Amino acid sequence: PATATEPRPGDLRVGGVPLAEVADRFGTPAYVLDEAEVRHRCRTYRDTFPDADVLYAAKAFLCRAMARWVDEEGLGLDVCSAGELELAVTTGFPPERIVLHGNAKSPRDLDTALRLGVGRIVIDSPAEIARLAAAVGPDGHQKVMVRVVPGISAGGHEKIRTGTDDQKFGLPIADGYAQHAIARILDQPQLHLTGLHCHLGSQITSVKPYLVAVRRLVGLMSRLYEQHGLVLPELDLGGGHGIAYRPGEEALDLTALARRVRAELTEACAAAGLPVPRLLVEPGRAVVGPAGIALYRVLAVKHTPEKVFVAVDGGMSDNPRPALYGVRYAPRLIGRRPGTAAPARTTVVGRHCEAGDILAADVDLPADTRPGDLLAVPVAGAYHLSMASAYNLVGRPPLIAVRDGLARLLVRRESLADIRSRDVGL
Ligand code: LLP
Repeated sequence: PATATEPRPGDLRVGGVPLAEVADRFGTPAYVLDEAEVRHRCRTYRDTFPDADVLYAAKAFLCRAMARWVDEEGLGLDVCSAGELELAVTTGFPPERIVLHGNAKSPRDLDTALRLGVGRIVIDSPAEIARLAAAVGPDGHQKVMVRVVPGISAGGHEKIRTGTDDQKFGLPIADGYAQHAIARILDQPQLHLTGLHCHLGSQITSVKPYLVAVRRLVGLMSRLYEQHGLVLPELDLGGGHGIAYRPGEEALDLTALARRVRAELTEACAAAGLPVPRLLVEPGRAVVGPAGIALYRVLAVKHTPEKVFVAVDGGMSDNPRPALYGVRYAPRLIGRRPGTAAPARTTVVGRHCEAGDILAADVDLPADTRPGDLLAVPVAGAYHLSMASAYNLVGRPPLIAVRDGLARLLVRRESLADIRSRDVGL
């Protein structure tokens, strides 16, 4: 988790900065990112997977500073749109260390990728093959990977499982579907296939599905070798590494993952008579999730016959994850010493006009929680701001980086003027 220290009760500091000070200075709701924690997590990945390429999955969260930190720590980048790609490259991120994904890449996505010289494009559908080959042109050359589906169910919620044959991404290995499409890639001289890719899902907390994926992908590599004499030098196992959102929850053991994937890959390749390909991994959540904290100000407290509701100044517009995936958080009161009363079972809700706008159901908060109090929601760095909307015309929160006792605004709050400026007709 973000490197939080607590010198006095209620005075929670991250990166050496008291969060209450950040709230006063930048307003709420606000997102705080611990730069040292992000960098530490990048380094941990490099150390844990020393002979693999680690690509940070930008969809978890991206701003220019984040791209810079990831670059400086020696990771590559996984992007899924021209927007993510352009932002990274304009920060100076080397395009050859970027991989472009997407099940429905727009002409602009592909043009941008080719113009900026992205390292790999991951083919996701049969129709993309001819389209990409045409965009590259007869004299061009582009490294590609192909996303295959190993038929594995893994991940924290049904909506973020992508390893099964019944979801929209990739080419199922089943029934020779992927193999058939790969033969068509090999027919295109300007596309240079470097390896297979799969992404099983997100918030996976067990190593096992990754090992099954290794076996199935090496099985396909072996059939491709028999059919075409093809030896693929790369294997990308995607991301999905699970983290703990609340105390006591289990995160995926990255050391065990690295060790057992390596062993499985070595064994499967030896059995198939293939050289061991270079491994790629694409963590998003596990790099940035625990480094972020959401800050809210309490606006209203309501003791109904059924429940105690604490309503804050943000909600599903800055964090849609409880509503979408039923994720549970552990918010805490900060900035003041709580009273001595026993904690009360509380439901923390947002400000939006729907009953499903719940940030944390049935959590323990001080019984004297009152308007004006500050709540911090830890583990809010991944898929929060990147999924935020302006629902109810509430502007998206700012992002503040903290480091060595200093707070720095990286992304400013979306103002009502920003929102109104898009409304150009009457
Ligand atoms: N690689 C690919 C191809 C992906 O599609 C994803 C995530 C990742 C890597 C990174 O996965 P991670 O390591 O972050 O789990 N909005 C959802 C998560 C959606 C993940 C989409 N793809 C959430 O808030 O939980």
